[in-house]
Amino acid sequence: MKSYKAKMVEPIELPSREEREAALERAGYNAFNLDARDVYIDLLTDSGTGTMSAEQWAAMIRGDEAYAGSESFARLAESVRDVMGFEHVVPTHQGRGAENVLYGVLLEDGDVVPNNSHFDTTRAHVVNQGAEPVDCPSPAARDPNSTETFKGNFDIDAGYALVEEVGADAIPVVALTITNNSVAGQPVSMANIRATAEFARDIDAMFVIDACRFAENAHFIKTHEAGYENHSVAEIARAQFEHADAITMSGKKDALVNIGGFAAMRDETVFEHAKQRAILYEGFPTYGGLSGRDIEAMAVGLREAVTPPYVTDRVEQVAELGDLLVEAGVPVYQPTGGHAVYLDAGEVFPHIPKEEFPGQELVCALYLEGGVRGVELGGFAFPGTDRPDLVRLALPRRTYSREHLEHVAETAAKVMASAGEYGGLEIVAEPPMKELRHFSSRLEPVSN
Ligand code: F0G
Repeated sequence: MKSYKAKMVEPIELPSREEREAALERAGYNAFNLDARDVYIDLLTDSGTGTMSAEQWAAMIRGDEAYAGSESFARLAESVRDVMGFEHVVPTHQGRGAENVLYGVLLEDGDVVPNNSHFDTTRAHVVNQGAEPVDCPSPAARDPNSTETFKGNFDIDAGYALVEEVGADAIPVVALTITNNSVAGQPVSMANIRATAEFARDIDAMFVIDACRFAENAHFIKTHEAGYENHSVAEIARAQFEHADAITMSGKKDALVNIGGFAAMRDETVFEHAKQRAILYEGFPTYGGLSGRDIEAMAVGLREAVTPPYVTDRVEQVAELGDLLVEAGVPVYQPTGGHAVYLDAGEVFPHIPKEEFPGQELVCALYLEGGVRGVELGGFAFPGTDRPDLVRLALPRRTYSREHLEHVAETAAKVMASAGEYGGLEIVAEPPMKELRHFSSRLEPVSN
């Protein structure tokens, strides 16, 4: 049973099959190009798409819109201090703003950044600073059927192998993404957070956590890691950051807002440099490209994320979607992650070769069959990597009900039943930066 009820509603409608076919063609077989009104159940992302609480809306009225020294900023800084334990905060318009600000300060041409897995914008920001992103996912991540819990972990051995190869001096930053979005939203254990921090210290690198889904990660530690069952999510959430030098945060995830983010750090000099960079790219460092009311909503949301039973409801709803899909016979990456269920498109369409994007075909098929929008996070989104062709169905927070989830499972079952009728896709137009191609490329069925 959910611990909340709806206070505001937004109508949604399933367009007819013909309308969906036409919409998909107009969109160049890329779900990012669909109009949202043509989508019935929108699982493109959990980022900024959730429902805010009455307390968050109420706080927005208090927003102090002062250009400098806003009280709303002071309240955000207090939340960040209480919930995450960082003294210095630089607000930004969203997570990638924080990546730009922080990595612009920490990285130089030729540097190398290991991460359990870079998410797409993080990867692009590391590349944008002239540095090389290297993924060091846990070997367990490669097996979609292993039900091990912390498949999001950083592979410390891979980290040391990288040091052997490029030398410690080339690695100014070791990064860790919790939960690991590009590895099926899998969590990272507290033991691994500590081990990654030690690895960073050993090679004299800064330890940076991508904290987007820190509350969901804390939930998994509480429910699955020995020794934490009697600790609160709030205590665990804070303990995750104890050994980190800095974080980048997208408020659009576990600060439960529609827009916002921040970087936070301990080092005074890094803070001063980050503020200067923020002025250049985001805004004065007490508003960072946000209105005072956005900042208020984030200050409240950050606290809500670690207050029971929010995150239990949240992760359990994602697991419920996973269970419905498994019951419907759909190959699901195991176990389900914190914010999304990931489908294994390679298994749904074994007849479609990797170069013809089985994942993107599955995204199109889910839309055609039931107006459901997901996103490909495989060979199309991460070119040049050997990732499995996964399709992510990300649940917006506090938004859909059980009936919506059932529709998604029924839709996926329909796709499974006619899987042989689907063919591959080819890219016919793509942007210059290949790390960003999945956002705007246009595709066509291969047979055309
Ligand atoms: N890091 C991770 C792990 C993310 O998942 C995202 C965003 C970002 C950084 C960037 O944050 O969007 O606020 O600029 N992920 C969204 C997604 C877009 O759909 O997973 P942002």
